[in-house]
Amino acid sequence: MLTIRLYGDPILRRKAAPIGAVTDELRSLADGMIEAMQVEDGVGLSAPQVGVLGRLIVATPDPEDLDSEPVPLVNPVVERAQGEWTEEEGCLSLPDVYAEVTRPETVDVRALDMDGKDMSFAANGWFARVILHEIDHLNGVLFIDHLSSAERGRLRGQLERITRRARETMEGQG
Ligand code: NI
Repeated sequence: MLTIRLYGDPILRRKAAPIGAVTDELRSLADGMIEAMQVEDGVGLSAPQVGVLGRLIVATPDPEDLDSEPVPLVNPVVERAQGEWTEEEGCLSLPDVYAEVTRPETVDVRALDMDGKDMSFAANGWFARVILHEIDHLNGVLFIDHLSSAERGRLRGQLERITRRARETMEGQG
């Protein structure tokens, strides 16, 4: 089982590199990410969150629907974004931290699928939000970066606790 890195782990602040080829190794990484995400009841996950600095994300198209199959996206890019809406978000790297984030409502996305083929599609609502949140991770950006400093101040105690846990985990791994 892949371990999800916690806030405070420096890998979450690094930029992930484009993926050159979709290989069996990448496909098994995507499968592992989906498994790790579902065990934690998440709706999206990025490769840096499992310690891999490559541009791979998995996103659940309809987080409200338990049968909605997560989609892996390689080198995802948002080509167009429209509208705006605000909703409460969380992140598996920031357990129990929730805050309202404003994001575009509709996005046009281009990516490679797990056969290495180009694909583009429009995503709305939660699917768009999850994709934007995960692409942020590929750039070392976390959802709390979108908050006002007052809002981040409100979360400071929680963030410090998670940072301590991340440090203990990293020390435990030697
Ligand atoms: Ni996240």
